[in-house]
Amino acid sequence: MRVLSAVGARPQFVKLAPIDAAFRTAGIEHLIVHTGQHYDPMLSDVFFTDLGISAPDVHLGVGSGGHGVQTGAMLAAMDGVLDEMRPDWVLVYGDTNSTLAGALSAVKKHVPVAHLEAGLRSFDRRMPEEINRVLTDHAADLLLAPTAAGAAHLAAEGLQARTVVVGDVMTDVLLAQRDALAGAPSPVGSELGLADGAYSLATIHRPQNTDDADRLHAVLDALAAVDHPVVLLAHPRLVAACAAHGIELADRGGLRVHAPLSYPDLVASMVAARGVVTDSGGLQKEAFLLRVPCTTVRPVTEWVETVELGWNVLVEPGEALVSAASRPRPAEPAAEDAHPYGDGRAAERVAAELLTRA
Ligand code: UD1
Repeated sequence: MRVLSAVGARPQFVKLAPIDAAFRTAGIEHLIVHTGQHYDPMLSDVFFTDLGISAPDVHLGVGSGGHGVQTGAMLAAMDGVLDEMRPDWVLVYGDTNSTLAGALSAVKKHVPVAHLEAGLRSFDRRMPEEINRVLTDHAADLLLAPTAAGAAHLAAEGLQARTVVVGDVMTDVLLAQRDALAGAPSPVGSELGLADGAYSLATIHRPQNTDDADRLHAVLDALAAVDHPVVLLAHPRLVAACAAHGIELADRGGLRVHAPLSYPDLVASMVAARGVVTDSGGLQKEAFLLRVPCTTVRPVTEWVETVELGWNVLVEPGEALVSAASRPRPAEPAAEDAHPYGDGRAAERVAAELLTRA
């Protein structure tokens, strides 16, 4: 059986790692197409190297652009790739423009599509990711949901017959990294001279937070006002937005600006953090899995379990952000604490599901 994975953005490389390993074990021939949506080495190459992912078979080199230009360039390039590689299935991941382009190109060529991380919803149709998720789920033949909540959303849209709950593949890779890194010092802590538990990690890159200058100012002001140091891992979109708005992105108050981290460095730095402040989906869940309090700068989240179980708080920029991000990290949770994201073996289930459809 030959499966083609279409990936392009940082969170997809993380999800690809356990899938690539599980496919190898299961004897599935795995072709990897990198769309080129993310091209900076710290957003792309470092993940392939550190997570032991096979090198991409094809690189579309699409790069940046408006949504239409970026997605359209991927679609145009994928036609030839599918003709040449003739996969039995195309596997797409998450909710980026690369996800939608991979799904749409395959379904038009009558190649069956599986969507990993199906069924997540923010119900905010102004988010490009929400549009990508909904359209991809409706185009796909197999919906691999990470959670029961995801499966319920799909059922509400009439898609239950195509849905299988497999668990969350980011849990697979996160738990493996955490165990491999046990006892390792925090890279951010060592570099900036910050003790374990004395700093928070932050990432901000969503258009809702970066496109409006006043809102971006408010986010950065709040991060600088938290009662302990906040290390901001600056995504290229944030850097570009600050430049466009004439905002100087520099250390001030408790704010320390830092380049993005590799995945192992991120995990080791998060284990030792007092908290996480973010608008990323993946980071909310990674913080939850490591039992680090998370403060999410968005009105809604797709990972509702993190909020329901008390580890994540949704805030607006301003005083609410400052006080939520200043809350202490609780003592270790009880052993029977909930595990809504699966047992760390989701990728094996994905391989097994596809093999039953060979
Ligand atoms: C994309 C995804 C988002 C995901 C995020 C993770 C979509 C619609 N959004 O957002 O769901 O959470 O990736 O990082 O697909 N840029 C660089 N270097 C790069 C990549 C991007 O400088 O390697 C710059 C681009 O020039 C552009 C900005 O970052 O200015 C945005 O990149 P883009 O790929 O459009 O979306 P992200 O914001 O990264």
